[in-house]
Amino acid sequence: MAYRVVSGIATKWGDDMDYHDALADLCVGSAHPGGYLATLAWLATIDFQPGMRVLEVGCGTGRTACEMASHPGVLVTAVDARQAMLDKARKRAQDSGVEVVFRLVDDERLPFDAGTFDLVVAESVTVFNDVQAMLLEYARVLVPGGFAVDTEMCAAAALPDDVMEAFYKTYGALRVPTQTQWKRLWREAGFDPVRVLLSGPVTVDSVRGDIPDLWSMAQKPDHDQEVWRIIEQNQTVMSEYAKWLQYAVIRATRQTG
Ligand SMILES: C[S@@+](CC[C@H](N)C(=O)[O-])C[C@H]1O[C@@H](n2cnc3c(N)ncnc32)[C@H](O)[C@@H]1O
Repeated sequence: MAYRVVSGIATKWGDDMDYHDALADLCVGSAHPGGYLATLAWLATIDFQPGMRVLEVGCGTGRTACEMASHPGVLVTAVDARQAMLDKARKRAQDSGVEVVFRLVDDERLPFDAGTFDLVVAESVTVFNDVQAMLLEYARVLVPGGFAVDTEMCAAAALPDDVMEAFYKTYGALRVPTQTQWKRLWREAGFDPVRVLLSGPVTVDSVRGDIPDLWSMAQKPDHDQEVWRIIEQNQTVMSEYAKWLQYAVIRATRQTG
């Protein structure tokens, strides 16, 4: 798989299936480091109130979006760059009896006016894009005083070229900041305070999920061998380079000034 960079997004060449397509095909529910356990941990820190406007960027198959939408009166919008993910996410919302507004985006510029949301959520999304551009977009669409929660891969230390190349070829990640660099990038984008709610190692099991995703397990994906080849390649990269990887759940408040 080869990637090119289009307006800051690492985009695959041609129609070949990539890692994210394989996740969509398999209906994977919590495709982020820390898995759904990490999601439940940060969700528990949020006081969801009726009328709260939430945007999830890169919602994948919609597990977190549907969970947030189960809080009475919480208005969830969820976007993803892949139609296949949104199709799955819509079905999950229907099957779960929750309302989520889903929208396709294919640009790191989010199709919303400034100050539209109280909370922006991303789980293993920002790192696959032009990080600075994405964080500025999160700041733009948030109301002053609103906040973002973002779970992302962090480098344990500055990555050697061969490790970075493997991440780029496997995931299209253009760079993997360290936790300190992530915090600085958030501050530079207009967020303060910036706190790490949770962090830990990245393991192969993160993607498989720690709490079974019953909805996902009930789906019958019609995938081919290519899906498994890609998932195996991911597991090989994860195992081989695990010592270089961590993850952090960052909570960052959009400055009012
Ligand atoms: C690793 S998956 C994570 C999906 C989901 N957040 C989860 O935890 O299961 C990354 C997702 O982000 C989406 N994505 C990446 N860059 C995006 C962007 N700029 N805008 C919208 N979605 C994006 C991909 O299409 C993919 O569905």
